[in-house]
Amino acid sequence: MNRQKFLISEEVESKITDLMNKMTLEEKIGQLNQAGPSLVGGFDVPFGIALGMMLDGKMSKEEFEEKMSNAKEEFREDEVRAGRIGSFLGASGAEKINRIQKIAVEESRLGIPLIMGYDTIHGQRTVFPIPLAESCTWDKKLFKESGRIAATEAAANGIHWVFAPMIDIARDARWGRIAESPGEDTYLASVYAKAKIEGFQGEDLSASDSVIACPKHFVAYGGAQGGRDYNTVDISYQTLHEVYLPPFKTAVEAGAGSIMPAFNDIGGVPCTVNKYLLDDVLRKEYGFKGFTVSDANAIAECVNHGVAADKSEAAEKALKAGIDMDMNSNSYIENLELLLQKESISMDQIDESVRRILRLKYAKGLFDNPYISNENIEKETILRKEYVDKAREIAKKSIVLLKNNGVLPINKESKIALVGELANNAGEMLGTWSLDGKEEDCVTILEGLKAVSKNVKFEKCCSVEGEVDVIKAKEVTNDADVIIAVVGELKTMSGEAASRSDITLPGKQEELLKILVETGKPVIAVLINGRPLAIPWVAENVHAVVEAWQLGIQAGNAIADVLFGDYNPSGKLTTTFPATTGQCPAYYNHPTTGRPGGNFKFTSRYLDAPLEPVYCFGHGLSYTTYEYSNLRIENLNDKIKVSVNIKNTGDMAGEETVQLYIRDIVASRIRPIKELKAFEKVWLEAGESKEVILNVKINELGFYDEKLNYIVENGEFKLWVGSNSKEGLEGSFTI
Ligand code: GLC
Repeated sequence: MNRQKFLISEEVESKITDLMNKMTLEEKIGQLNQAGPSLVGGFDVPFGIALGMMLDGKMSKEEFEEKMSNAKEEFREDEVRAGRIGSFLGASGAEKINRIQKIAVEESRLGIPLIMGYDTIHGQRTVFPIPLAESCTWDKKLFKESGRIAATEAAANGIHWVFAPMIDIARDARWGRIAESPGEDTYLASVYAKAKIEGFQGEDLSASDSVIACPKHFVAYGGAQGGRDYNTVDISYQTLHEVYLPPFKTAVEAGAGSIMPAFNDIGGVPCTVNKYLLDDVLRKEYGFKGFTVSDANAIAECVNHGVAADKSEAAEKALKAGIDMDMNSNSYIENLELLLQKESISMDQIDESVRRILRLKYAKGLFDNPYISNENIEKETILRKEYVDKAREIAKKSIVLLKNNGVLPINKESKIALVGELANNAGEMLGTWSLDGKEEDCVTILEGLKAVSKNVKFEKCCSVEGEVDVIKAKEVTNDADVIIAVVGELKTMSGEAASRSDITLPGKQEELLKILVETGKPVIAVLINGRPLAIPWVAENVHAVVEAWQLGIQAGNAIADVLFGDYNPSGKLTTTFPATTGQCPAYYNHPTTGRPGGNFKFTSRYLDAPLEPVYCFGHGLSYTTYEYSNLRIENLNDKIKVSVNIKNTGDMAGEETVQLYIRDIVASRIRPIKELKAFEKVWLEAGESKEVILNVKINELGFYDEKLNYIVENGEFKLWVGSNSKEGLEGSFTI
């Protein structure tokens, strides 16, 4: 069911028509103009430059924060009064937003309310695990719940619209924004997209705890060549439609009120000015009724792309392609009036974009309730106990047990040596894009362990980028029964503009692990990172490896829950862990090639690296074991019904994610060796058996032909049902 229709009502359409009949051209163009609060004072360079300098270590955090404390957010109030600004991004706080909204509503000629957008990517103040971590829960109920909580807190902060969910398929671990993504698989990302949008938008967009969602980045941003952010994307239109577009189609069907195009190009045309994507696909094929907002400064950057001679031509192309709102580049406000006078654009084109934006302002209820009525709502909402509890639940379920030779779970009486900078660094638990997150809200790993055990000794021994203190390492581990080494990346090493050309452990952390393993004591590596890492030595030599990502405010407690066995880990990887950076992009649903890799020389392989990844998509161990049996396949004409029995053959209850993969054996186009088509989570007490049924609709078995027609071809298919993308019970069917 396509929920876009909920954005349209005849009554509202006539109100919009009445209002637009009163608007001047400048006021109309003002609705298409989104500004960011500028920071005045404090900085002798633009804020963005200062931020970049701090993130790159060219300005100390203390100096940056000192400048920030002297800076003042300035909302260009005269332009708001004049109706030249219709929206702001980057402002959070009920009192602040009410103040600027009051100017728009009570001091501008027509009183059109502002719509306030914000990057609430994985929680607002209750910071959840980064999206790549949360996706490892494979739990659509949790995806929705964390979206609902994020919406409630963001709305309490005065925010109407969030630039989320980010649903870029990410196959290249070098790309820093893989941290923000739901991973490499299209089906899982589509499940994630629908759940997030339902969570953010709720049942009623005008409700005080709902926010408009903005799935991004439309489209294929994760295909950036070299994994280098903002780089060109060169993919076939079939891959575009089979891999990258489906989560956005699902997002539109789920009723998303807005969409943000990506910085990159498709077929040499930047998404920001790509009429094929923004009009033919998004509006005509998908039926999208919301509005589009460019990414930051992206319209102006079409000049850098070389598809516009100047901002005026960029503005003309963007409006004609289907960009309704200009994020922070001033291209529209500076150029549309003259473009109209020159008849380069039409009044209808401007009116269509204005209507789309006003439609969402009405849908959000901003004309009836432009203000946060109760400014205390923030204090009453932010960090509610049930939100913090939910953050702990999601965090522990995001943890992926990659390896365990039996050293886990840890006995609570054991003497523990805890090492690594990231074990005792609260702020690092927040991960990228945690704008309102505060380190004082975070539980460190040291705190989490100490809450359970009295026998924890901590020494940093090694920072992420520094030297190993061998003396300290030997001292702290001397009388330990077990060693926990927390290693990984700083949160600034992933996220936007944070691609890495080498995805091994930074610094000397692997050297630290080697010293620890040489002690002969059990060593557990806990990974804190925003991307898959190439860790073949760690996987081979460390006794247990726990992928803990950046888990948000409850990181320490969640990690302790898993390490001590109070929670049986259930996470499953949603991205492949390559053996070397050179394997990137590495993803499970790849084609075979004419010479599938192997030991024979003349096959698709590397001279200096293995072909296989270290950990595959879907991988994740448990403290118990599961046995799959009795696979049955029924072709019911419109769907394939697959039944399987699964038994918990260990002595600990746990939750398993049963995965169904298919392969189209022979087709008119090359098909992937495997594709995830369904999954179910199942809770099993020790010794318990259950039957799990998974269905795959026949029309989901298709692909796009050379004319971009979606086709389902008859023929034989293989299928696998199991615990990850590498192994499982095998069967076949024919359609
Ligand atoms: C950034 C990001 C986008 C974000 C926007 C506003 O450049 O690409 O994801 O929503 O700007 O901050």
